[in-house]
Formats: sequence, structure tokens, C-alpha cells
Amino acid sequence: MCGIIGYSGSRNARTVVLDGLKTLEYRGYDSAGAAFSAEDITVFKTGGRVSDLEKITPNIVAHAGIGHTRWATHGAPSAKNAHPHLSFDGRFAVVHNGVITNCDELKLSLIRRGIRFVSDTDSEIIAHLLSLEYDGDMVSTIDKVSSLLRGATTFIALKKGDERVYMHRNGASLVVGKGDGECIVASDALAITPYTSDVAVLCDGETAIMNATDVKFFKNGKQLDKPFGKTDRTAPKDCSCHMRAEIDEIPSALLNAYAEISRSITPAVSDMVRNAKRTIFFGCGTAYHAGLYGKIIFERVGVPSNAVIASEIDDERFIDENCLCVFITQSGETADTLIALAECKARGARTLAITNVKESTVTFEADETVFIGAGAEIAVAATKSYVCQLLALYMLSQERTEKRMGKSEIQALANAAKVVSKENLYAPEYKDFNPFFIGKGIDNVTAKEGALKFKEITCKFADAYGAGELKHGSIALIDEKSVAYVVSTNEHDEERVRATVRELQSRGAYVFAVTNSNRLGANKTLMLPKIYDENLYPVLSVIPLQNLALTASLCLGLDPDKPRNLAKSVTVI
Ligand code: F6R
Repeated sequence: MCGIIGYSGSRNARTVVLDGLKTLEYRGYDSAGAAFSAEDITVFKTGGRVSDLEKITPNIVAHAGIGHTRWATHGAPSAKNAHPHLSFDGRFAVVHNGVITNCDELKLSLIRRGIRFVSDTDSEIIAHLLSLEYDGDMVSTIDKVSSLLRGATTFIALKKGDERVYMHRNGASLVVGKGDGECIVASDALAITPYTSDVAVLCDGETAIMNATDVKFFKNGKQLDKPFGKTDRTAPKDCSCHMRAEIDEIPSALLNAYAEISRSITPAVSDMVRNAKRTIFFGCGTAYHAGLYGKIIFERVGVPSNAVIASEIDDERFIDENCLCVFITQSGETADTLIALAECKARGARTLAITNVKESTVTFEADETVFIGAGAEIAVAATKSYVCQLLALYMLSQERTEKRMGKSEIQALANAAKVVSKENLYAPEYKDFNPFFIGKGIDNVTAKEGALKFKEITCKFADAYGAGELKHGSIALIDEKSVAYVVSTNEHDEERVRATVRELQSRGAYVFAVTNSNRLGANKTLMLPKIYDENLYPVLSVIPLQNLALTASLCLGLDPDKPRNLAKSVTVI
């Protein structure tokens, strides 16, 4: 959550910081701010979005600056609570990503020392502490300040009269890029690659100081030799709706993913999968739904498996050295998932990450990583990354069999996805009906994902139900104002799903089916193209549900790319 950026170099920092914040806005968009260092530090803040910040930031010339786009944790979204925060004496400006868990006690002790807080945030503490603890050496000052802070405390700072940018990473990502006469740091390499693809990733506990020509890294007061490498992360073109573009990209994303996943399944990854006595899939939200799919297809190839919501790890007792724990995370930064990973490692399990972001934290923490190569996903609602996660899980499950997906098979799947991506279940006559998403077995995973997508970007209630389970209670909700989206791709379950469709219709519901069978008796049927392995239908059947949510959101006049209360990379617990 929150996007932070810092720049030192020959360009005008205003342009780089504001453009970078636009790229990082997917990480939080309830308020924004920037600070620039010339002789003085000047700060501009808004309770609106980056476009509003741009309007209130004059055309100043400065060669160092920092910026922040916020997802509020402490204090309402407002100009007052927007970052950067200045120290009491105006000497330091700070942008912070994370949550300071000992904020109450630190705040109290600072108030006792006579500091007057001007915001309701925890982050302001860092600015005051930097000034109070400053000993003439920024490395030791930052070490001292960070030793006082608990929680996730990644920050970037400016010091008055100084064109250097200071940073410390703890619990939230920071990537530094080194270009020709300029250096730039950001939460995501996407904000850096317009200027340079040479990047280094900070690890927890590391501090860095950058100026226009160089970056120096430190840990525990000692200088580190950190190599720079090339990143292939590139920002997508500007477009009016990223979610639309990302659904449309699914066919090409699947082809890229196939190549990237094939490369990532090294002998070490393959051995991990083959030797696992048990697999547990962890993830949050959409990534958890991918985990549910993983559980089903791994059990189909004979591996006892479970899928666990990452934040619910405490109730998962059977994690040991015989377990392969798989962490599915598009961003690679989700705090709940990273905490679950640390716990599984502590219990001796082998750990495998499935992620879309090569520079992300999960890649440093897991024993092995499979990259899904879906390309940058900017819309908050995950779409193309979800189907590429499913593909990765499918290809990993094949390591337990003699079969491997071939080039012609992935091409056929991508072609089928292209056909399906034009399908949309949205019908204006049902826009005010109560939506029910229904499926059985592997199709229940798709129903869950369809309901989540619908809730997330329409802000309307929706839920998923098991086809056989509906009659055991939830059918009480069904009436002639209900619309059901029934997913059915499994011949074995067809009879039961057909019975559910009749039960729904008998109570007045209108039934749409997403299926490979024309025998369900739905009011309207969307036929999926035939594919070579029915285990792959969830890759296709979710696409019309993504389109449904997107169209419903647009028809409500909402911004599907930036849903209410959400942000893409959830780095708080
Ligand atoms: C929903 C969505 C979220 C994420 C979840 C995990 O559309 O995108 O539910 O799936 O926050 O994020 P990652 O995959 O980055 O760990």
C-alpha cells in the first residue's frame, strides 16, 4: 500500500516525481503529496489524487524531490494527513510506506519532549525522530531512528539544503535505479524504467543514500557492495481503462506466461514438486482463489493438498519438512502472504513462490520462484495475472505426471481465450437484480472469483455458492429479483448443476450459464470453446465474469481501475 518515490539528478524533480506518482497510483489513491529540495524544502499536498497534486504544484525548479500516493491507515485521507511530513524544525521531509506499530508510545514520548504533531498519522513520527536524533551522519541517524520504530517502516527522506535522497527499507519494497546523471528510488521499478533499467533492490534493514551520480548502500553502519541488474518491468501505455486492456491482453499474456513459467520450472523447482508429500497453497483474495485451483489439480495428480488464506495460517497445524508450501502473489509484496511464508520456513517447509514481479520481496524470501510473466498489471482488480497463476499451477502439477503442455496446446488455449474474452454476461435488464455466482468443484473456484471481482469494482454485494449446497440454506435468498451466474465445465457434475439450475428458476431467478455443455437448461448459455484438458477450463470460464464485473462497474459510473477503499499491493496486515 502507498507508493513512494525519490529523485536526485539533472532533470527537474517535479516532472519525475509527479510522473512517477501517476505510475504508482495503483498502490493507493486517497491523497498525494510531494516535496522538493532546493535551498529550502517545499511541500505540496492534496486530499485528492495525483492529478490534483499536479494542479497545485507550481513549476518550481529543483533537482531532488520525494513523493507519496496514499492508502490511509492512520488518519483520514486529507491534505493534512498526506505525506510528505516535515520535522518540527522543517529540516527533514519524509514519505513512509507501512504502519508503525509502536506509534502510540513513540508519539507520547515525542509530545512529552515538546513536539507538536500536525497530522493524525504515524508517519510524522519518523520526520521528528530524524531531526531529534541527527548526529551529523545520516547513516547512523537512520540506524538509530529505525531501531526505535516497530512494524513496517520503509521511508524516503530529504534533508534541507541537500540534494541527496535518503532511504531505509523495512517491510515494504524499495527499488533504486541508476541512470546517466540521475538516480531514482521507488516502491516499484515501473516508476524507474522510463529513465533507466539498471536497478538494485533494497532488502529489509538496508539504508541507501543517493545523489545524481551514485547510490551507496549500508547495513548496520557498514557499506555494502550491492550489484545493479537489468529489470524487464515496463509500464504499460496510458489508457482510459487498464482493466479493459488487461482482460484484452489475456491471450498474449498466456503465451508469454507459458514461456516464462517453462523457464522458471528449473530442475530444482521440478524436484520440489516431485518430492512433496503434501502441498499447501497460500494467497489472499484472488491469489487465494488460484490456491484453491492449485489444491484441486494437485490432488488430481495424487498430492494431498490444501489451500489456506494466508492471514489464516495460524489454524494450519500440519506444516513440516514434508510439505511444499506455495505462495501465490501477483505483487510479491502482500504482507499477509509474506508473514505466512516466514512461518512456513520457520516450521521447516520447502517454499515456492509464484509471482509476477521479479524484483519483489517474495522472490528473496522463498526457496524457489516461478514467474508468471503476465506483464505489469495496473488495475487493482487482478485479471490477467489470475489466469496466468492458474496456468503456472497447472504446469507445475504436470511435473508429477509424464505429460507436458506443448506449444500447440498453449496456442490453442490462447486462441480459445481470445474467443471468450469477447463474451460478456452483462445485460442491462438485470442490473438491479441480486447476483449469485454458482459452481461446483473446480467451477466453484471460478464462482468465488467472479463474485469477488463483482463486489470489488461495483461496490455491490455478491457471493458464491456451491451448486449442491445452495438448497441447504442460501436458497432462501432467491426470488424473482435474483440473477444467477452458473459455471459448469465438468461433465461429472453436470446432472447436479442442472438440478440446481431448475431449483433457481423455480424460485424466479434468471440463470446465465458459462459452460461447455448445452444441456443445463439455463435461460441464457455462453458456450465455452472445447479445449484439450478440462482442468484448464477455469482459465477460460472466469473471463466472462471479469467482463461482467467490468461492464457493471462502468455502467454504474465507477472507476474500475481504482475501486473504493482498495489498493493493489496490500503491504499492511
Ligand atoms: C482482487 C485482488 C486481490 C489480490 C490480493 C493479493 O482482484 O486483486 O484480492 O489478489 O490482494 O494480492 P497479491 O496477489 O499481490 O498478493
